[in-house]
Amino acid sequence: MLKIKNLTKKYGTFEVLKDISFKVPSGSIYGFLGKNGAGKTTTMNILTGLINCNSGNISIDGKDFSTNKRQILKTIGYLPQTPVFYGFMTGYEYLKFIGNLSGMSPKEISVRTDEVLEKVDLKSDAARRRLSGYSGGMKQRFGLATALFNHPKILFLDEPTASLDPEGRMEVLELIENLRVEGITVFLSSHILNDIERVCSEVSILDQGKILVSSNLKELEKKYIQPIFDIEVDGDVTSLKEVLMDHPLIENIKVNQNKLSIYVKDIVEGKKQLLKLILSTNNTVLSYNIRKSNLEDIFMRMVIK
Ligand SMILES: Nc1ncnc2c1ncn2[C@@H]1O[C@H](COP(=O)(O)OP(=O)(O)OP(=O)(O)O)[C@@H](O)[C@H]1O
Ligand SMILES: [Mg+2]
Repeated sequence: MLKIKNLTKKYGTFEVLKDISFKVPSGSIYGFLGKNGAGKTTTMNILTGLINCNSGNISIDGKDFSTNKRQILKTIGYLPQTPVFYGFMTGYEYLKFIGNLSGMSPKEISVRTDEVLEKVDLKSDAARRRLSGYSGGMKQRFGLATALFNHPKILFLDEPTASLDPEGRMEVLELIENLRVEGITVFLSSHILNDIERVCSEVSILDQGKILVSSNLKELEKKYIQPIFDIEVDGDVTSLKEVLMDHPLIENIKVNQNKLSIYVKDIVEGKKQLLKLILSTNNTVLSYNIRKSNLEDIFMRMVIK
């Protein structure tokens, strides 16, 4: 278990992390959610020993991070937000280089190189090419191989899918999912809510340096579950929103062009009344759909408001 307690970080007078606390269960794939500038990378850099915090405690499996730093750092892997590799090296050369840096024997390096390349699905002909020629997806998969090289117990991934196209994202997410069976704890930051929803079992939402919520994802969805009526109309959406907001049944409405996402206080009454109510305003309804709220809805309500 990775425990973070009352962590603060300041740059000058600017408080980037304001007393954050959360626990990452061993073996979980943990999503660390937050919009740009929330403090995700700062947290990652502290947890991987790259920068110091101003106050707070971090422990891994009961061991204090600050007093066992050298030992703990050997058990973690980190793929930074914008990893930098020596582009003139081939994949093989780079892995040999980091293996040498970690003091591994040539035999160990050779065995581990084959293992990690297979894990991230990089073929040997790709590994013989220079890193500067890798595509974005290949670079990110290679980054995962380097982060996994020292058999980490905890893997920190800072926005691993942010720069990738849909295919590259799927590949990386699949690799992350595969790590679950190996029992590696994965701490993954992202603002792509779909990705978090797909692979994570636990989440924390960070906003302006504060943790808004930490929870099991299923419990979070259960707690904040709320049916949403997605309605598309042909007409004046702004005045329709005003009319609807005055009605006691309606809790909130989000508008996107001519589509309304309507949150109601009572689903049974909503089903009975909402469509009638809209039609009584002389708007034409083009589509009507009821769905369960997802992580994106929860995030929007908590963070964007
Ligand atoms: N070295 C630094 N000096 C001063 N301010 C900093 C420094 N590093 C980060 N910050 C500020 O701290 C805040 C959090 O930055 P951080 O990079 O941790 O956010 P993030 O959640 O990773 O954002 P993004 O999604 O854009 O990667 C930002 O306002 C940033 O400008
Ligand atoms: Mg960041």
